[in-house]
Amino acid sequence: MRGTPRLLLRRLALASSLGAGVAAGLLHRPAVCRDAGTSLSLESISARVAALEAISRARPIVATDSAAGGGAELIDGRKIAANIRAEVKAATDVLKQEHGVTPGLAVVLVGARTDSSTYVRMKKRAAAEVGFHSVDKNFDESVSQQQLLDTVRELNADPAVHAILVQLPLPSHIDESKVLEAIDVAKDVDGFSATNIGNMCLRGGKPPLAIPCTPAGCVELLQRSDVAVKGQEVVVVGRSNIVGMPVAHLLQSMDATVTVCHSRTRDLPAHVRRADIVVAAVGAAEMIKGEWLKPGCVVIDVGVNSKPSSTDKRGYVLCGDVDFESAVQVAGKITPVPGGVGPMTIAMLMKNTLNLARHSIRLPRQPLRRQNSKY
Ligand code: GUN
Repeated sequence: MRGTPRLLLRRLALASSLGAGVAAGLLHRPAVCRDAGTSLSLESISARVAALEAISRARPIVATDSAAGGGAELIDGRKIAANIRAEVKAATDVLKQEHGVTPGLAVVLVGARTDSSTYVRMKKRAAAEVGFHSVDKNFDESVSQQQLLDTVRELNADPAVHAILVQLPLPSHIDESKVLEAIDVAKDVDGFSATNIGNMCLRGGKPPLAIPCTPAGCVELLQRSDVAVKGQEVVVVGRSNIVGMPVAHLLQSMDATVTVCHSRTRDLPAHVRRADIVVAAVGAAEMIKGEWLKPGCVVIDVGVNSKPSSTDKRGYVLCGDVDFESAVQVAGKITPVPGGVGPMTIAMLMKNTLNLARHSIRLPRQPLRRQNSKY
C-alpha cells in the first residue's frame, strides 16, 4: 500500500463521498460536457467545480471502506491551490509595497445563469482574498454586442485593470469570438487569444503572457506532486480549446510524448493503457475505467459531471471522467473530483492576473511551472 496512513484515510474518505452513488447502483446522468469543448460545457464544468468546492469545504469528510484496498495517492488540489493563492498574496503585497501597483481583475458577466454567477462569485472571493482590485461589469441577458465591445474597450483603457475575463458562455445573439478578440492581449487573463495560444504552441515562440487556467492548473498539480513529465507517455482524452488542446501542448513542451484522444479515436482503452500520465478532459461521467489504466500511472481528472444520488440532499453527486472507484485501485496518483483540478483553475486565474500586473510595469512574470519551463 502506497501513502501514509493519513493519506489513506483521506483517500478513503474522498472516495466514499464520490462512490456512494456507484455503490447504490445508480444510473449515471448524461455527462455534463463533451469533447467538442464548447464554452457552454466548460462553463458548466467550472461552475459546478466552484459550487462544489464551496459545498465540500463545509462538509465533514467521513471515512468508509468504499475504496478499501485502493493504492493510489490522492493529489490534493485544494491544498495545492491554497498554497498558490498564498504565494500570489505574498507577491501581491510586495508589488503593492515596492511598486505601488495593485493587480486589477475585471470580470464581465452577462445574464443570470446560476453556474456563471457562482463561478464569478468564487473568482471575486479569491481575488479579494489575495488583495486584488476587482471591477465587476454585470449585464442583462439582452445586452447588445456593441455594449459588450464598448465595455471591453473601456476596460482595455483602464490603467487600474490588468486582467479582463469575459465569463463564458455568452448568450447566443453575441459573437463570442468577436468579444474575446476585443480584449487587449496584455490583459487576456484566460490566455485564449490567438497570440497567447500561438506563442504557447510555437517551439521557440515567446512565452505567452497567460496560459489557459485549467491546463496551467493541471501542470502545476503534476509539478507540485513531483511527477516527472519528461519522456513520459501522456494520453490526453479530449481536445477542447480550453483544456485538451492547451494541456497537450504544455506537456509536450515539457518533453512528454503526448497522444490526444477524442470522440473519433479507435480503441481508446488501448491508448490509455500505454499512458504513464492520463489527463481526462472528455466530459463523460466515469468513462475511463480502472482496468484501462497502466498500474502506477498518474491520473489527472478534469471532468466534472453529475450523477443522481438518493443519499445526497441535492439529489446528485459530482464525479469525474474517470471511474474513481476502480481507478484508485490501479493508479499511483490520482486527483479526486471534487478537490483535484477544480480549485486549481481559480488559483491559476489569480496567478495569471498577478503576472499581467507585473508585465504592465515590465517586471518578469512568475513562472507557471517549476521544471523545464519556458513560461
Ligand atoms: N467559463 C467556464 N470556464 C471559463 C474560463 O476558464 N474562462 C472564461 N472566461 N469563462 C469560462
